[in-house]
Amino acid sequence: MHELVIVLDFGGQYNQLIARRVRECNVYCEVKSYKTSIDEIKAMAPKGIIFTGGPNSVYLDDSPTISGDIFELGIPVLGICYGCQLMAHLTGGKVSSAHKSEYGKTETEFNTDSLLFKGLPDKGITWMSHTDYISSPGEGFIPVAHTADCPVAAMENRERKLYGMQYHPEVMHTDNGKAMLRNFLYEVCQCRGDWSMSNYARTAIEQVKEKVGKGKVLLALSGGVDSSVLAALLSKAVGNQLTCIFVDHGLMRKNEGDEVEAAFKDWDVNFVRVNAGERFLSKLKDVSEPEKKRKIIGEEFIRVFEEEAKKIGAVDFLAQGTIYPDVIESGAGDAAVIKSHHNVGGLPDYVDFKDIVEPLRLLFKDEVRQLGIELGLADYLVWRQPFPGPGLAIRIIGDITQEKVSILQDADAIFREEIALAGLDRDIHQYFAVLTSMRSVGVMGDFRTYDYTLALRGVTTTDFMTADFARIPYDVLAKISNRIVNEVKSINRIVYDITTKPPSTIEFE
Ligand code: XMP
Repeated sequence: MHELVIVLDFGGQYNQLIARRVRECNVYCEVKSYKTSIDEIKAMAPKGIIFTGGPNSVYLDDSPTISGDIFELGIPVLGICYGCQLMAHLTGGKVSSAHKSEYGKTETEFNTDSLLFKGLPDKGITWMSHTDYISSPGEGFIPVAHTADCPVAAMENRERKLYGMQYHPEVMHTDNGKAMLRNFLYEVCQCRGDWSMSNYARTAIEQVKEKVGKGKVLLALSGGVDSSVLAALLSKAVGNQLTCIFVDHGLMRKNEGDEVEAAFKDWDVNFVRVNAGERFLSKLKDVSEPEKKRKIIGEEFIRVFEEEAKKIGAVDFLAQGTIYPDVIESGAGDAAVIKSHHNVGGLPDYVDFKDIVEPLRLLFKDEVRQLGIELGLADYLVWRQPFPGPGLAIRIIGDITQEKVSILQDADAIFREEIALAGLDRDIHQYFAVLTSMRSVGVMGDFRTYDYTLALRGVTTTDFMTADFARIPYDVLAKISNRIVNEVKSINRIVYDITTKPPSTIEFE
């Protein structure tokens, strides 16, 4: 059992970020709805509670709120932004609409006698985003930070262990924001910090062992980070009671199928690779409409998986790579979540199994990667960028042929190699080549060419819901372009995609 801190979600856009920051401080936390009852909270016995921000005004009737009894539990509470205003509102303070809203980086002064700011500078930048402000803090509270426009940028009632911050300590733009959260966790909540991936690996392996017993486990392995880490963890827990089915649809990146196989060859698991490239290509013949391609691949994937699973016979458990953001997004851990991605969605209807194992269910993506390292998974699997289930099929505009797949694999491999050589592979969150259906005239030696245009896409993003195009230096782009047109046949023009998402998407199809 780990120490627990609860993040009560009042609808803020940074709820997951708060939870991640807390875990980065080695304290386990879970995001719960603000509707969670006081009794449930009591039963969880958290070391601390954090209220998130939210878009509402506390003084409106239908705004999310919570019973004031939460402050009577003797458990430390930290309110952030809306959460801070709510704390003031519920403890007899006053929240008013400001004449001037504060937004963005703001000079702030701190009282370093407060435990929140212990050991930190008395001035710094905080990230503000609010229209309402606390004009008078609640009974027994004193302001412990202020800005030019905000008299209560932070407040405390030390005796009752109640604290508030009007700004967002969880975002990078707040100087020492994480250190302030750490102070709350360690100085106020007296946490010891028992959350680490090595601990987690140990307990998760034990839990899987106990749940699975002598049963058989089946996993659809895609070679992506989540399913690879899952395979590693399960293999340590149940060894060859696990069968991984890796459906290679022939639309992976260059050498990727072999890399996935090589990574698991020496592990104590049953590894089945199905080379279904030709089968997928024949289904996709002359299909150029993106949604149709996706649908065909999704259906074919399930069919191939089902055939292989039947050969294995009945299994006891189906392993799922569900991770914590999926759980939060589906309503904070109610029902079992099955990802809607084509590579796992729908499987439970097709495969005969008794129960699901989801040992990554509590982890954020960065924790999944750390766990992978802890379990001894190869770096190139752990740091793999996201790759869509339908693979290169949605990076070849229009109809797909084996020749086009090979052209794209070669060009994409050069792009990735050069980005890594330039040391940019961890800064650009996703980057890939796209084979467009456009052909244009060029000149090669003394000859006219009439070949494909290749598009390069590189994006920076935190959540893949929005993205900016990566500012890859021109000289790196020049080298990539030069190598691709010289080394890959059938490409005579290269363009770099400079659109953000929205209005574009990250993928082209
Ligand atoms: P878009 O193109 O919608 O992509 O901006 C957002 C992120 O999702 C990935 N993506 C997929 N991942 N199955 C997946 O597992 C899919 O069908 C799929 N389509 C897009 C995309 O690569 C990007 O990271």
